[in-house]
Amino acid sequence: MGKRKQSIGPIPPAPSRQAGFVTMGAAAGGKKIKEIGVGILGYAFMGKAHSNAYRKIAYMTWPPPLMPKLVAICGRSESAVAEAARRFGYQSYTTDWKRLVRDDRIQLFDNAAPNNLHAAPTIAAAEAGKHVVCEKPLGRTADESYDIWQRVQKTGVKHMCAFNYRFVPAVRLAREMLEAGELGEIYHFRGRYLQEWITDPGFQKVWRLDRKVAGSGALGDLGAHVIDLARYLVGEISSVSGATRTFIKDRPGGTVDVDDAVEAVVEFAGGAVGTIEASRFCLGRKNGMTFEINGSKGSIGFDLERLNELQVYLPGSKPGASAQGFRTVLVSEATHPFWQWWWPHGHMIGWEHAMVHELHHLLTCIAKNKRVGPHGATFEDGYRASEVCDAILRSARSGRREAVKQSLGPNQPAPARSS
Ligand SMILES: NC(=O)c1ccc[n+]([C@@H]2O[C@H](COP(=O)([O-])OP(=O)(O)OC[C@H]3O[C@@H](n4cnc5c(N)ncnc54)[C@H](O)[C@@H]3O)[C@@H](O)[C@H]2O)c1
Repeated sequence: MGKRKQSIGPIPPAPSRQAGFVTMGAAAGGKKIKEIGVGILGYAFMGKAHSNAYRKIAYMTWPPPLMPKLVAICGRSESAVAEAARRFGYQSYTTDWKRLVRDDRIQLFDNAAPNNLHAAPTIAAAEAGKHVVCEKPLGRTADESYDIWQRVQKTGVKHMCAFNYRFVPAVRLAREMLEAGELGEIYHFRGRYLQEWITDPGFQKVWRLDRKVAGSGALGDLGAHVIDLARYLVGEISSVSGATRTFIKDRPGGTVDVDDAVEAVVEFAGGAVGTIEASRFCLGRKNGMTFEINGSKGSIGFDLERLNELQVYLPGSKPGASAQGFRTVLVSEATHPFWQWWWPHGHMIGWEHAMVHELHHLLTCIAKNKRVGPHGATFEDGYRASEVCDAILRSARSGRREAVKQSLGPNQPAPARSS
């Protein structure tokens, strides 16, 4: 066989920013780093995830914008919260969240408690002058979310609703591509968040299945994340048509009065149409949050279980005219969002790291007095996601298409798009 001459083309320019192989160990702090006292409500799933993030911020993002000082942690069971304090490194613990609010050593109040405990502690902490981060959904209903947003906003503190998936590098890259107009005019958003953990009828009724505590079921728990991403990436949702189901009503421990699953067809103010789906009854789906966006110039797709990847289809890309199709972009280059703090490219990060990026962003906004939006979800974003949730529930009840209410207050500008 004859030797084929290879054409390799020009060598691409070196990235302007490098990380990992060449910069590992090169970080320098210089000046004294100011501390910020953190008080956290909840020590279980999110309490652990947020505490882990504060600890990582302190050494991975060197120099951190502020040095998180873990002052106090609160939970219901004294022995368990004492152990959590020892394990995560908090100086003290309490079973009464009001003590966190009164504690002058705390400047940032982190609410990682169930949804019925979002409003009162978060508002009280902000009124005591503490910056606040609150888990999603912000409130159990749009009215409750609105009240939290308005009352906290009045205090002038920084506020963030913990929609952490905005801080996955591949999701931020998607937003950057959309903002740059690389997908053109947007036609479709198709998002779903599927889990399997309550499929067993013998699984007991936990707080997430109780409307008084949770507000709604799969909708507020999982669907709210998808709704937030739809708003972050494509823009405001103007109307919805929804259906909900509760497949298993009677469980050990009581009657389920929230949705097990939700399906919605949504219309965006900018003209796109889409679907949003959430369920905790999808056997085999562990944490299956996916979205696809189709525009006039291309498409992108994301899967949370493969979170370092972005699927990209840009028709007519050259070279490679004869090999068109979706391609997998490994989002781990030094120039990709958030990678400056991590490892050499291809040495992957995971679910927990989005919380490091998210809380680092909040600390930066506090330290430099910058806006939390548009990349961080503010309490306004928390409220607007709640309005979409409420509209879906209204539509499921009425059987009609329902407009999404947008009460008072200037909205975050949607990302500008050129076609
Ligand atoms: N952003 C995400 O990816 C994500 C994931 C899971 C949960 N969440 C949200 O985080 C919040 C917490 O969920 P979770 O999964 O960590 O719940 P969880 O049940 O694992 O933990 C709840 C914690 O709150 C504490 N708590 C409950 N009632 C209390 C009271 N009266 N006083 C003091 N402490 C009390 C419990 O002791 C426990 O430590 C919810 O709003 C949920 O929707 C967000």
